Amino acid sequence: MISDKMQEAINQQINAEMFSAYLYLSMSAWCSDKRYDGFAQWFKVQAQEEMAHAMKFYDYIFEQGGQVKLLAIDAPKAKYASLMDCAKKQLEHEKKVTALINGLMDIAKKEKDYATDITLQWFISEQVEEEKNAEEIIGKLEMIGDTGRAIYMLDKEMGKRKFEED
Ligand code: FEO
Repeated sequence: MISDKMQEAINQQINAEMFSAYLYLSMSAWCSDKRYDGFAQWFKVQAQEEMAHAMKFYDYIFEQGGQVKLLAIDAPKAKYASLMDCAKKQLEHEKKVTALINGLMDIAKKEKDYATDITLQWFISEQVEEEKNAEEIIGKLEMIGDTGRAIYMLDKEMGKRKFEED
C-alpha cells in the first residue's frame, strides 16, 4: 500500500507522462506537415514510449491497491520554428521530467517506501537515456545544419525507429 501523498504524486506523474506523449505527437504532426517523415516517425515512437511510461505508473498504482486519478491534459504547442527548435524543446522538457522523477524519489526515500523506490529506479535510468537522445539529435543538427541533402539523410535514419516496449 502506498501513502496518499505518494499516490497523489504518482497520479500527477501519469498526467506529466501523458502530456509528454501529447507534446511529442504534436512535434510529430509538425514534422509530417513539413515533410520530415523520418522525424515524424521518430517523434511518434517517442509519444508511444511516453504512453508506456504513463501506463507503468498506472499499473503500479493498482498493484499497490491504490486509486488512479486521471487529470486534464494540457494542449501542447502546435507550431515549431525548425527541427532544432523541436529538439531543444524536447531536451528542455526531458530535464523537467527528470526533476519530477527525482521529486518522486525524494518522497519515496522520505517515506521509506522501498517498493516505489525500486519502481522509480527504472525511470531514473530511463531519464538519463531520454536526455542523451535529445542531446544527440541536437548534436547531429548542429553538425549538418538544417538544409539540403544531409537533412534528407538524417531524416531517413530517424525514420528507422520502431516502438519497442521495455
Ligand atoms: Fe517519460 Fe520522456 O520521459
